[in-house]
Amino acid sequence: MNPSLAFELLKVTEQAAIKAFFWKGKGDKNSADKAATEAMREILNSINIKGTVVIGEGEMDEAPMLYIGEKLGKGEDEIDIAVDPIDGTTLTSKNRENAISVIGISEKNSLLNAPDMYMKKIGVGPKAKGAIDITKDLTYNLKEISKALNKKPEEINIVILERDRHNQYIKEAREFGARVTLITDGDVCPVIGAGLDDIDIDVMFGIGGAPEGVLAAIAAKCLGGDFQGILHPESEEEIERCKKMGITDIKKVFKLNDLVKSDKNIFCLTGITDGYIVKGVKKRANKIITESLILNSFDFTPRFITGYHNL
Ligand code: FBP
Repeated sequence: MNPSLAFELLKVTEQAAIKAFFWKGKGDKNSADKAATEAMREILNSINIKGTVVIGEGEMDEAPMLYIGEKLGKGEDEIDIAVDPIDGTTLTSKNRENAISVIGISEKNSLLNAPDMYMKKIGVGPKAKGAIDITKDLTYNLKEISKALNKKPEEINIVILERDRHNQYIKEAREFGARVTLITDGDVCPVIGAGLDDIDIDVMFGIGGAPEGVLAAIAAKCLGGDFQGILHPESEEEIERCKKMGITDIKKVFKLNDLVKSDKNIFCLTGITDGYIVKGVKKRANKIITESLILNSFDFTPRFITGYHNL
């Protein structure tokens, strides 16, 4: 895989974010998602890759575009593609912070083909790599993370989705003495935040989307961080779906290298709404301004890019 593909990916998330921007605050998350998905697909089809969607908008029968298995691009470079045209469709429709457009690519057959269901996940930055174990309780993980980061419990900031299913984790983290940041949506951003030096996040923990888990794992791999997940099916039908997708051991712990096998990965995000990683899309006179972040596991250097697009 050519590392310069990063620049092509940048165009993909920039255009998806710009299209989503026009739906910002309009209360219609589906139209926002559709616009971003169409833009993403169009650009992906115009670039020099031979990609297969591994993480996308759903199964072929439920998603007309960017469905799992869809082939994209006009090149020869065979890659796996993971996309989320909008992580935070509700954040976008309600004009709340931290909605992003995301793509990650890896060598062919390296990304976990994760079913669209929940996953219990934990993500940290490089200094806490190796300190996490999702099979152990949250207190154990927080202790190990504090040790690795050389921080006191009250200096640890853990980000958790605000959901009733997380009440026990929130209680446990507070009893440990950590600061708990509760978010309404978007659990990819905090994993990236944990890997960026100037962002005050140490760990993301909780049950959220498995596809978002694979995307966050690509980002973690490009940041030198760590990530683990265990699928969290909620019905017999979901267990069957796992099996159909080749996952026979439902309790399997997916470590970073199970989620993303290759060491050659590129990840790119563009802000839709303002956030702590990047600012959202802005319309100014005859320009549209975007802010993006490119990560890669070739030189592990995060790069922020501002685009000034002609209207
Ligand atoms: P959107 O589908 O609105 O983009 O939401 C994304 C998200 O917040 C993910 O970041 C997260 O993993 C998942 O949804 C959580 O799911 P739920 O809202 O069902 O708890």
